Amino acid sequence: MNNTFELQIPEALKTRISEIKAIQGSPFYLYDCAAIREHCLQFTALPYEPKAIHFALMANSNPQFIRILKDCGLKVFVNSIPHLEQVLSLGFKGEEIVFAASAMDEAKMKQAEGAGCLVVLDSVGQLELWSRLFPLQGACLRCNIGDQVSPKQTLGGYFIGKDSRLGFTREELQQLKGDPRIRGLHSYVGTNILQLSYFMDCYRKLSELAEWFPNLQVLDFGGGFGLSEDPSQQLDLQDYGAQVSALMRQLSLKLGAQIRLILEPGRIIGAEAGYFVCEVVDLKTRGKHQLIGVNASCAQFPRPLFYPDEAFHPVAILAQNEAEANEEKILSSIYGCSTYSRDFLARDILLPPVKPGDTVILGYAGSYCASSYTHFLGFAPAREFFT
Ligand SMILES: Cc1ncc(COP(=O)(O)O)c(C=O)c1O
Repeated sequence: MNNTFELQIPEALKTRISEIKAIQGSPFYLYDCAAIREHCLQFTALPYEPKAIHFALMANSNPQFIRILKDCGLKVFVNSIPHLEQVLSLGFKGEEIVFAASAMDEAKMKQAEGAGCLVVLDSVGQLELWSRLFPLQGACLRCNIGDQVSPKQTLGGYFIGKDSRLGFTREELQQLKGDPRIRGLHSYVGTNILQLSYFMDCYRKLSELAEWFPNLQVLDFGGGFGLSEDPSQQLDLQDYGAQVSALMRQLSLKLGAQIRLILEPGRIIGAEAGYFVCEVVDLKTRGKHQLIGVNASCAQFPRPLFYPDEAFHPVAILAQNEAEANEEKILSSIYGCSTYSRDFLARDILLPPVKPGDTVILGYAGSYCASSYTHFLGFAPAREFFT
């Protein structure tokens, strides 16, 4: 069992959670604004210019969340027209938006280009369409550099390499060598990556391709910054910043132009800052296994549904009777209140014996949790609060 890490929650947040639950009921999400800002700062402090940090909206599209990022100087990355419209309505200008998608039809391309976004193209066909629609515009291409590194399988599969459906292959890029239209190259090498060396190997390969294009202005290294519940396993963002900056400076020197660096962090910005709060309703004992039924569903907390064997969210219990917390921990799973057989919020973790009415808090819940809500099963989205 790898799910042995306990969720540590600052006392002030516990108090806030109890206050909200007493007044509003549960389930709900609570976000710690200071923690979100801290993660933004880790990226804006990266010692290279020119650069732009574009938060990937799919990780969290709550308008209040996005406003915090905007105040911290972050820009946005979107991959759909509804998200594009949302960020425009929140006051982002076209040049502050990266729009990347696959299989964009003419209407979508026109809307993204018309808004003034940096549009990232996914295929030879998409480049042809782009050039036909906007013959005078430069283009930014998503590159699959997977055959030049050993691609890693990350959450959600392969994002580069022969098993990825995304981006231009090296052969396709080679056909375009010297093409004056190409102004930017993009890559997204996987998600929840903790090995700095993997990022750097991939980035070096992308920057080698940059030398093929005489009018290159932008390199977009995507997101994928990992988070581990194990404090000894974290990605060192300072070291990351130093190494990426050095690489960009070298490249700019080589190309005789200040190449703009774009990063698209998603999960890392808000994951740790978010908590999902629900309440114990029912209990079952199956052998030595404590099955905890709560007043929420995986439809409201869907990350474990998307990554059943990989998404881990440490849990804390706020017991009504404090003595409970000191009892010996037992193997436990937390199940949702639907009839869906896979409605679990956490599986095979160690928790003290709990009682109906106790509060269950799932951590690392600020990214790909509220934003992944699904209508499936008929539950309303959980409310979101900020503190
Ligand atoms: C192109 C692109 N950029 C950025 C992100 C954000 O990724 P992460 O949350 O892993 O940082 C994603 C997520 O899927 C993506 O597809």
